[in-house]
Amino acid sequence: MVDPLIEQAARALSSAQTILVLTGAGVSAESGVPTFREAQTGLWARYQPEKLASPEGWAADPGLVWRWYMARFGGLETVRPNPGHYALAALEAAISEDGREFVLFTQNVDHFHEVAGSRRVRHLHGNLASYRCSGCDRSYPLRPEDRGAEQPPSCPSCGCLIRPDVVWFGEMLPPGVVEEAWTASRRCDVMLVVGTSGQVYPAAQFPHVARDAGATVIDVNPDPTPISRIAQIYLQGASGVMVPRVVAAMGIETEGS
Ligand code: OAD
Repeated sequence: MVDPLIEQAARALSSAQTILVLTGAGVSAESGVPTFREAQTGLWARYQPEKLASPEGWAADPGLVWRWYMARFGGLETVRPNPGHYALAALEAAISEDGREFVLFTQNVDHFHEVAGSRRVRHLHGNLASYRCSGCDRSYPLRPEDRGAEQPPSCPSCGCLIRPDVVWFGEMLPPGVVEEAWTASRRCDVMLVVGTSGQVYPAAQFPHVARDAGATVIDVNPDPTPISRIAQIYLQGASGVMVPRVVAAMGIETEGS
């Protein structure tokens, strides 16, 4: 017997012409990646992410910030996408095959959506897989020796420090991606929101924009959030469990797990 809310979500997605998926750290939680606001562990426990992921933190101690990101980036290499990532990739493939529109915006800086096979992925907060010069903005392919370095490398062109290509607190989000997200939020028939606390703008605003424009908003989160409260369908549970169940109820096969 399929849960009526799962059925309702499956029907909404099956009949949608345009689908927008918005994900947050919760979609990677079941891969063992701590969510953004979970307490930091180990030697990083005494640091606040908001302090490290900021221009002020970088200016104060670029080496500390660099080592934190290398630890986070290294941690990502030991874990794999989970069934929630694979189900979202299967959903995209099925929707695109029908000639319908699908786009996935993520607040996450990991690349698990891509590893799981998602194609139309837009990173609102950057991507820990890419690095650039803090001076001339030139992109920089990370070298193995950079990984264990105490200090960030210097740009071969201008000598400024190389930084992760992620959005820090107080920094502008990539304007093109944000513009695309506003437009897509106003256009979509269904917005599937997965694993975000809805605390950081502008991403937290997108579900409200979609809802006001007449879309059906589906929220997947074990804990209620401001988004679950405005969603027409709130699936209370883990993304690695709920998203595969919705996709299965749509009759879509999911590979990988
Ligand atoms: P948060 O850490 O704020 O929220 C994670 C959400 O995932 C919470 O609502 C959890 O309840 C939920 N969650 C936990 N486990 C889950 C699971 N297995 N399945 C589904 N949901 C689960 O992370 P975000 O909302 O992504 O921005 O935070 C957004 C942004 O805040 C981050 O991208 C970061 C931070 O400021 C920047 O770094 C610019």
